[in-house]
Amino acid sequence: MHPIEEAVHTILNGESVPAELYSSISHIQDLFAKISGVKAYAAHDIQHTDVSTKYGVAISTQWAADCMMDFKRTTTFLLGLNQAINVAMQKFPNETIRILYAGTGPYATLFTPLTFLFKPGEIICTAIDIQQDGIVSLNKIIKEFEIGPFFDEVLCADAFEYQSPENSRPHIIIFETMQFALKTEPQFALAHHLAPQLVDGGFMVPEEINLDLCLYDPPETDCNGMDQHNSNRTVQQHTLYNLLKLNQEYVRVNGPIPLQDLLPKVSHTIPVNLNSGNSLGIFTSINIFDKIVLKPNDSGLTIPLQLMDISRMMDDFNIHLAYQLNPVPDWQIRLSEIH
Ligand SMILES: C[S@@+](CC[C@H](N)C(=O)[O-])C[C@H]1O[C@@H](n2cnc3c(N)ncnc32)[C@H](O)[C@@H]1O
Repeated sequence: MHPIEEAVHTILNGESVPAELYSSISHIQDLFAKISGVKAYAAHDIQHTDVSTKYGVAISTQWAADCMMDFKRTTTFLLGLNQAINVAMQKFPNETIRILYAGTGPYATLFTPLTFLFKPGEIICTAIDIQQDGIVSLNKIIKEFEIGPFFDEVLCADAFEYQSPENSRPHIIIFETMQFALKTEPQFALAHHLAPQLVDGGFMVPEEINLDLCLYDPPETDCNGMDQHNSNRTVQQHTLYNLLKLNQEYVRVNGPIPLQDLLPKVSHTIPVNLNSGNSLGIFTSINIFDKIVLKPNDSGLTIPLQLMDISRMMDDFNIHLAYQLNPVPDWQIRLSEIH
């Protein structure tokens, strides 16, 4: 068995412990790095070449490589995409399942390992990344592993400029171009551009991203921002309000981009006497596919965004939150008294 296939089986079997998942991802990363010359957590003095797109930052190829080692993120996405492919094969029998992968990074991390489980003709991927060095790296990997038949196009392009041909719309779109609370990167706007390109009944991966306004007690951190006690500890959250449920239905209702006037904008009353935590924050959870979920604090994508310390607030107050796309995606926050 090919070493990548072996690692993928360990990732997908549902019984592996975190240490086995981590070592499988490390093993695949070593192979990718050797072939492509792009290594996760390479030299610290490396030049990062982030690119600003119209609706968010396309992170550098080096940052994108580093994302692979957020192993819970990577393994959960692989599980989710594999599941989505299998469901699509049942839903669209006798069709080659077309996958549009926007923002592949240097390895198309969330797809390439899965090619070892399928036959050419069962699945085909259109791969897009805006970073030229990422695409050069991906092409080396495709060549070395002889997985060319699983890709119809590998494009260096801005995904916002890409339109699927009408007669070959994707059954699945996959993109992980996000940070916690949908800050900085263009996931929100890309969902609006890509979801309408799906065939009827097709799947968006991740299927749904939920942002919730919560009270909680942040873990004590050291000077590097690391949780002093246990970086995996569960943070108790008291959910006050759902801010956003980004899924295909949300995109259908709110329409395609340009979307400046349609951005989430909410006002809520915050009770300060609940004894539910001294901080107010936005919690992210990602439903990748079906019941495969990245919960708050499972990965770098789902750490809480701390908005404010409320421990000294004496009275309930109103909070007004507005999601903005420019200059980079972020939440604007304003407080007001309750009259
Ligand atoms: C967070 S990284 C993820 C890389 C890889 N998909 C993974 O999951 O490991 C996001 C990638 O999306 C790319 N990207 C972001 N916005 C893009 C856009 N508008 N068009 C094409 N690529 C984009 C970035 O250049 C980066 O390589």
